[in-house]
Order: sequence, then C-alpha cells, then structure tokens
Amino acid sequence: MHGTVALARIAHTEEEIRTRVRELGAAIRDDYGESRPLLVSLLKGSVIFLADLVRATGRDCDIDFMSISSYGPEHGLTGVVRIVKDLEEPLEGRDVLVVEDLVDTGLTLSYLVRTLRTRQPASLKICTLVDKAVRRIADLDVHYVGFESTEFLVGYGLDYQGRYRNLPHILAVADPSVLASRPDALLSRHPDLVFPGPGSRRS
Ligand code: IMP
Ligand code: MG
Repeated sequence: MHGTVALARIAHTEEEIRTRVRELGAAIRDDYGESRPLLVSLLKGSVIFLADLVRATGRDCDIDFMSISSYGPEHGLTGVVRIVKDLEEPLEGRDVLVVEDLVDTGLTLSYLVRTLRTRQPASLKICTLVDKAVRRIADLDVHYVGFESTEFLVGYGLDYQGRYRNLPHILAVADPSVLASRPDALLSRHPDLVFPGPGSRRS
C-alpha cells in the first residue's frame, strides 16, 4: 500500500507564524508612532494572535475584548451581529485596531465596523491573522494581514467547534466535511493521517 490520504497538512509552521507576527508588530509600531493604540480583540479566536501581536509591537498598547455572535450568511447575508460582551473602553478619540483571527466573507466585521464607528474613534483599522480575500462579500478595508488563504484552517486560535485552538501551528484541513461528521478527527489520528508522511507523496 502506498501511504495514506492526509486529513490535514501544516499550512504555517510555528516559526513561520512567529516571523510573520513580528513583521506585523513592527509595521503597527511604525504606523502608530507616538499614539497609544487600543487593540480590540474579537473573542475567542484572536486571543492567541493578540497575545503575540501586542508583544511584537514592542509598545505599551491598551487591549480590550469584545464577543459577538453572528447570525451568519444563512440568515440572509446581512452579517448582522449581536454584541454578547461589549468593550469596557470608550472609543472616542482613540486609534482603534480591531484584531481578528480570520476574515472570510467580511460580513461580520463590516457590520461591527459600522457599529464601532458610531463611537467616534480617531481611527479604526483591522488586523487579521488570516484573510480569505477571494471569498469577500462585504466591502471592507483590511489593513494588516498575516496570511492569505482559501482553505479551512485550524490552530493558533482558529477552531473547529472550539477544538484545535491550542495548536502552535496552523493546519489546512483537506476535507472539512470529515470534521462535520467527526469533529475530533484530527485529534485522534495517527500523525501520518494528519500530516502527509513520506509514503503519502505519490504522483
Ligand atoms: P465572515 O468574515 O463574517 O464570513 O466570518 C469569519 C469568521 O468565520 C471567522 O472569524 C471565523 O470565526 C470563521 N471562519 C471562517 N473560515 C474559517 C476557517 O478556515 N477556520 C476557522 N474559522 C473560520
Ligand atoms: Mg471569529
């Protein structure tokens, strides 16, 4: 038998993520200059990214958290979100940087941005670990992007039904429908089934 069909492969290694987050942190530090930005992390996926990003800026930043629940595209492409946990910090006059794990259609974030703008921040930008730009539906400016992707990703905060956030790397899932029937599939499998081993490379 010639190897196995892998369920997932490493899309971004721990080292690659560390390097990219450092670059983003440096760009943010340079762009904000003497201003003290308020980093707004959207729970829960972006927490791990935020923790590394805020240190990569080498600056004293304010951080705050927000939890939103999306009514999702299946409810009519509205992107309408409900604020489950609101910010503690007022935004008026602040340079606000929204930190997100992944922007897909952009519907959630474009609705949120409209809401946050009514609080009159001095500036409002978006930083995302992963951008699926080709899937964008909403008109949304994303200012800082870690990685572009078109695949379903888990790890480094990105989850499938709350799983896999703890992975230090980012996995691309070969067939997300496998997770739909078995959400733990990537936890329990032999490494060769998760990461393509030497035997799986056939041509
Ligand atoms: P959208 O931009 O409104 O379509 O929603 C983006 C959200 O969908 C992200 O914040 C994630 O919670 C979720 N999402 C989309 N694609 C992925 C993925 O590949 N892995 C994990 N979560 C994803
Ligand atoms: Mg999210």
